[in-house]
Amino acid sequence: MRGFRQALTAASSVLAEESHAFVFCHWASWPDFHDAMAPHMGMKGALIWWKNRGGTGDCEGSFAPDYEVVLHSAGSKRRPLLGKRHGAVLPGFPPVAPKKRTHPTEKPVELMAFLVARGCPEGGLVLDPFAGSGATLLAAQQLGRRAVGVELEERYCEAAAVRLDAARGETLARRAV
Ligand SMILES: C[S@@+](CC[C@H](N)C(=O)[O-])C[C@H]1O[C@@H](n2cnc3c(N)ncnc32)[C@H](O)[C@@H]1O
Repeated sequence: MRGFRQALTAASSVLAEESHAFVFCHWASWPDFHDAMAPHMGMKGALIWWKNRGGTGDCEGSFAPDYEVVLHSAGSKRRPLLGKRHGAVLPGFPPVAPKKRTHPTEKPVELMAFLVARGCPEGGLVLDPFAGSGATLLAAQQLGRRAVGVELEERYCEAAAVRLDAARGETLARRAV
């Protein structure tokens, strides 16, 4: 949480006042993420990424953890979301299969593209301060947005750079925008 708070403090002075932000979190930690974000940006609500498949944990005593919470905020200068209005539950974006992942919490590029397409206009700039495998950066590249990624671990920086180079020139079919 400390790194997240530091990133918010550093980013909030350079983020456009009308930026949208999406933060993925576990159900147990979303209140902490919410409280860290709220002083910097106007909270708009929470989305549910419904993964349509279970997970591990207490298989007998708990419901299957088949979703992630995505907190959504927008800046003080309100910019409407782009595209058609969509419900807050996001189905149809299956998780990346373990064998295909380069990062343990890698997000599907299509899911990140869905969010980028709604939150950032064409030619706009996307920031992912915890870039991991570069899924958000790849989505931005394929949708014609510029992107800046920050990642602590060199191996993930390398993997993201290779991925972005390999996909240069590709465009992603825009989904449900
Ligand atoms: C949840 S993962 C992001 C996964 C990414 N969304 C993807 O699809 O691959 C968070 C990443 O943040 C990185 N990280 C953690 N602390 C950081 C920091 N202080 N600065 C930059 N990156 C950091 C971790 O190394 C990790 O790769």
